[in-house]
Amino acid sequence: MTQNLIFSKKILFWYQKYRTKDLPWQLNKTMYKTWLSEIMLQQTQVKTVIFYYERFIARFPTIIQLADAELDEVLFLWSGLGYYARARNLHKTARIIVKYYCGNFPKDFDILISFPGIGRSTAGAILSLTLDQHHPILDGNMKRILTRYYAFDYYLLGNKSKINHKLWLLSEQLLPDTGTGVFNQAMMDLGRLICTNRCPACKDCPLQEDCQAFLNHEVNQYPRKELSKKLLKKTIWFLLLLFQYCKVKMIWLEKRPYQAIWGGLFCFPEFSNINMLNIWLLNHNIHNDQYIKLSIVKHKLSNIDLEIRPILLNLSKKINCKKDGIWYDLMDPPIVGLPKPIATILQKL
Ligand code: ADE
Repeated sequence: MTQNLIFSKKILFWYQKYRTKDLPWQLNKTMYKTWLSEIMLQQTQVKTVIFYYERFIARFPTIIQLADAELDEVLFLWSGLGYYARARNLHKTARIIVKYYCGNFPKDFDILISFPGIGRSTAGAILSLTLDQHHPILDGNMKRILTRYYAFDYYLLGNKSKINHKLWLLSEQLLPDTGTGVFNQAMMDLGRLICTNRCPACKDCPLQEDCQAFLNHEVNQYPRKELSKKLLKKTIWFLLLLFQYCKVKMIWLEKRPYQAIWGGLFCFPEFSNINMLNIWLLNHNIHNDQYIKLSIVKHKLSNIDLEIRPILLNLSKKINCKKDGIWYDLMDPPIVGLPKPIATILQKL
């Protein structure tokens, strides 16, 4: 038996014992359900995804219903999951499939990777997990397992595209001739449950006796951190314009440009310093002598540690600040997407 065959046999043997079958997207699989779950599972853990997935599929049981929806509602259901480009692309792709493929999810790899938000690994996952087509995957789990198993040194290869090319080759070579879907799912589950980022459970790992990182007592040094990925610190100011009248309580929110972070979601006017905030108030004829500094909110983005300083200002009348904004009714919230820190601040009000 070749080394690659031994590898896949070990994985499949382990998976027979430990396989998970009760995740909601694994019941009555369809391409639509697998696609949605794979997009949600990018950069998000299974335990977080379950709630969002079930709510989403209850509201949009078919791709046609998703395509018919307003983007604001899709973002509303995505609020809190982060990486909102995933939701915008999901919606775009649903519309393409309904318009050009009569709502039938294409089963062809080359067509899938032409859609917004579907790359090589996601297309491979959708086709292998649902239809058992023969395609490798390379998600974060797979990368972590491979880099540990081969004690794969990023620094030696240098640039990202060379690293990815090598990892794709390894993933292709390890793929068994049959049972691709089960093998890919097993690898993702092994990465999620055993070969975890922190505190991996090497003693339960079926690959332990050949894992180079384990044998060298270096498991925690893999995957190597990319040299350039430094965490940045950033402070921003949010202006909370609150209008209260009898039982009415409204706050001004602006729609964020699609290219920016939180693109398409609604947010308080944002400033990079307090002077800019004061100038904005001056330009809108709002007196700034009574604003209240609320407590600082910390929020982590993928590579930025954000410190948010909310400034609350009570208004005696509504002002019209900008076309792409709304007076958000706190008593009867509209169906729009809100980034997590905005939802947190609104809850406190
Ligand atoms: N991460 C991405 N896709 C996954 C899947 N299908 N199962 C578990 N973890 C995943």
